[in-house]
Amino acid sequence: MSKNKTSNTDTPSKKNTSKKSFQTLRGMKDILPEDSKYFLWIFDQVRDIAESYGIGLIETPILEPTDLFVRGIGKQTDIVEKEMFSFVDQGGDKVTIRPEATASVARAYIEHGMLSWPQPVKLWYWGKMLRRERPQSGRLREFHQFGFEIIGSDDPMVDAQIIFLTYKIMQSLGLEVVIPINSIGCNECRAHYRKVLVDYYKPKRSELCDDCKKRLTKNPFRVLDCKENKCQALSVDAPQTVDYLCDDCRNHFMKVVDYLDELDVPCILKPTLVRGLDYYNRTVFEVWLSEEESSRQSALGGGGRYDGLIEMLGGRPTPASGMAVGIERVVKVLRSQGIEPPRTYQPEVFVAQLGEEAKRKSLLLFEELRTSGIKVAENLAKDGLKAQLELANKLGVKFTLILGQKEILDGTVMLRDMESGNQEIIDLKKVVPTLKKRLASFS
Ligand code: HAM
Repeated sequence: MSKNKTSNTDTPSKKNTSKKSFQTLRGMKDILPEDSKYFLWIFDQVRDIAESYGIGLIETPILEPTDLFVRGIGKQTDIVEKEMFSFVDQGGDKVTIRPEATASVARAYIEHGMLSWPQPVKLWYWGKMLRRERPQSGRLREFHQFGFEIIGSDDPMVDAQIIFLTYKIMQSLGLEVVIPINSIGCNECRAHYRKVLVDYYKPKRSELCDDCKKRLTKNPFRVLDCKENKCQALSVDAPQTVDYLCDDCRNHFMKVVDYLDELDVPCILKPTLVRGLDYYNRTVFEVWLSEEESSRQSALGGGGRYDGLIEMLGGRPTPASGMAVGIERVVKVLRSQGIEPPRTYQPEVFVAQLGEEAKRKSLLLFEELRTSGIKVAENLAKDGLKAQLELANKLGVKFTLILGQKEILDGTVMLRDMESGNQEIIDLKKVVPTLKKRLASFS
């Protein structure tokens, strides 16, 4: 690197000499190996299930046109009203960092002409979402979701399958969850229900929280879903969506519940469940850890049917259903239940080295072992043998290979049995077959 400082950025200004350190922004966090090992485990479970059900992975951009979410999620939702990270970019375009992925997947379905693919199109995703919420336990500004979207079928079996797969993933992680479920009907039955609901709440308007007073005119269904105690108390006796479903919607919902019953999925009927995004119709559900209301505020996941979304975004009328799960919330629950991801990499052999020449050669030795299928570990940054052997012990390896100056000259390596402490000199050329034979005796 040149020592000549040519640009201003290379010259520390007076201000910078205070060496101010930086921290993550509010509501954002680094995911360190202690957590990322859970992420990898969850990813593997989701991928496994997705692949066996013929669900393909889709990656959509983190940045989308703001209007996609305004139109898709709904102007009057909390996400669009208060929580989007939106800005005008240098080219004057209004863009938003995605707060969720369903609208993006629907956009991709239209953009790539997936209507001409065999239907339904089954997709899954995994990625970062950003919502400018008030950070609190289980509520971050940057978080991760995985999700499934099945587009192109209105069959109730699709809803049941989505819920079933979500349940199976939770089970594969050792989590027993319950699935509150409801049907919010179609546009026609909802129009009638909306009127009945407003009639119920109107005389009680003064007892509602300030947000719900506004919701009553703009989006009365969300009053049912309010987390405030006084609003929840009123929702207990509110008219229920299921009593106002048209025949088609009622039959659809009965079938979903029937399939889930057959599949032994622990669903609970939750008449006040409406969800916070406008694109839903018919089936809606969440994933909770228990039946307690407290679970509701930190639902592990949620989803439902969104038969109108594709058309709303400019595509042909196309029914669809999906769900998403919050990874950080799942990790938090796994930790609190003492569930550890299974160890996927248990090294069997440690490569230790002494001296510059040995250090140089040991990386090649490490590669030779690794590519031959032996699980190896090292700490080539350490020079002392004692520290390296301590680490080998801690990792629980069966053997340590010690490469020193003398061994390099002789074309040998020392093999130490970590259990007995016995050491022997072996030919460096025969190290792989020798180790494989010794390791085989353990299996
Ligand atoms: P959602 O209920 O907004 O639905 O989010 C799904 C899950 O993402 C939540 O249950 C929660 O676990 C997690 N989550 C949401 N916000 C946060 C946050 N601020 N911090 C941490 N985790 C959070 C959707 O996003 C829909 N797109 C689901 C869907 C897919 N519906 C149909 N297809």
